[in-house]
Amino acid sequence: MAIAVLGLQWGDEGKGKITHLLAKDADMVVRFNGGPNAGHTVIDRGVKFGTHLIPAGAFYPNTISVLASGMVIDFEVLREEWDMLSRHLGWQPRLLIAENAHIIMPYHRALEELEGSGKHFGTTRRGIAPAYRDKAAKVGIRVGDLLRQDIAKQRLERRLDLLKREWPNSEEVQSLDAGVLLEEQLSFAQPLLPSIGNATSAIDNALEAADRAVMFEGAQGALLDVDHGSYPFVTSSSTTYAGLSNSIGISNPDIDRRLGVFKGYVTRVGAGPFPTRVSGELAERLRTIGGEFGVTTGRPRDCGWLDLVALRYTVRLNDCTGLAITKLDVLSGLDEVKVCRSYRLDGESIENFPLAADVLEGCEPEYETVPGWREPISEIREFSGLPSQVMGYIAFIEREVGVPVEIVSVGPEPEATMMRA
Ligand code: IMP
Repeated sequence: MAIAVLGLQWGDEGKGKITHLLAKDADMVVRFNGGPNAGHTVIDRGVKFGTHLIPAGAFYPNTISVLASGMVIDFEVLREEWDMLSRHLGWQPRLLIAENAHIIMPYHRALEELEGSGKHFGTTRRGIAPAYRDKAAKVGIRVGDLLRQDIAKQRLERRLDLLKREWPNSEEVQSLDAGVLLEEQLSFAQPLLPSIGNATSAIDNALEAADRAVMFEGAQGALLDVDHGSYPFVTSSSTTYAGLSNSIGISNPDIDRRLGVFKGYVTRVGAGPFPTRVSGELAERLRTIGGEFGVTTGRPRDCGWLDLVALRYTVRLNDCTGLAITKLDVLSGLDEVKVCRSYRLDGESIENFPLAADVLEGCEPEYETVPGWREPISEIREFSGLPSQVMGYIAFIEREVGVPVEIVSVGPEPEATMMRA
């Protein structure tokens, strides 16, 4: 039995809470993309956590958490998270780190600053794009290299040689030393070295075993996918279901549930087009009530109405079998709620999501207005107890995207979740 949990917007859909809840029934939880750019907010036994690299399975003693090969791993961050969780839990989370995942080195973070790309694209400045770039350019350092230090040192020396030629005037780059960098990485990774291994065969075995439940956890959202998102305002990994197979090294994995997570409205952080963005009082209200500030960077998120053009596209991209809608409580208190069903582009109405960021930038949302609900809903625990307008909003979305809403979340606590399936 396997489920994939995937973000359907520009990240920050509330996947952390949903994966944390579903992970309690899983024997294995696999994170398949991205790095410490992600920020999952999890409330575990009343304590709030922002996790960046460690999958949600880490909170449960019998669950193994896999960091698959499609990830880029910053050992400094991973170690900090692992130590923090070990203290909170009273035991050490069980990890398996793919030997063929790539390492984010300190120079990857520095490169985003040197190149100004962090600022231009509004990235999280965690070295994500430079690390994935090195992977594609075949000059990356892989996790498994830490187990063969002579190889790691050779690779680092070659990478630094190129880097120093590219940045002759950067003191920071010129002072880098392969031996020092390797020692530093090893000191962060030391207690995690036994956790490095072949993730593909472990995942394959778990998927084959009839009695094992596997959950796959996506980071970021479909609209940030490097191929299928609003390029170039995207992240550098494959965030969708298609990317999952490649990351875990298993073609056509037997995953019967593909749960897409989306917020009852939309947020975006960083640069790039956002057709349904709102401003003024409404934006402030959504940001404040929804706590819309980045978990990783603390940046305020832009907010807007639900965009069904984008949602239809990402539901299809991920071949979703069901949906989880989150943060519906944030919309309480509004007389009416707007939903974008189509865009106006060059005087015409279009229903397909444009792939080019500059075209998307020129799209005006065409809204349908539906009744809002004034009452707070964050204490409601039964679907049947929700105001009729909330049920109407959910039914409207289901009709538009053609996939059932299986989970409804009305607050950050695990209890504030209604399972319909
Ligand atoms: P990068 O992933 O740091 O290269 O950033 C590229 C873009 O993706 C920026 O707009 C970031 O704000 C955005 N981004 C990356 N990770 C997340 C996330 O987990 N949530 C929301 N936005 C993200």
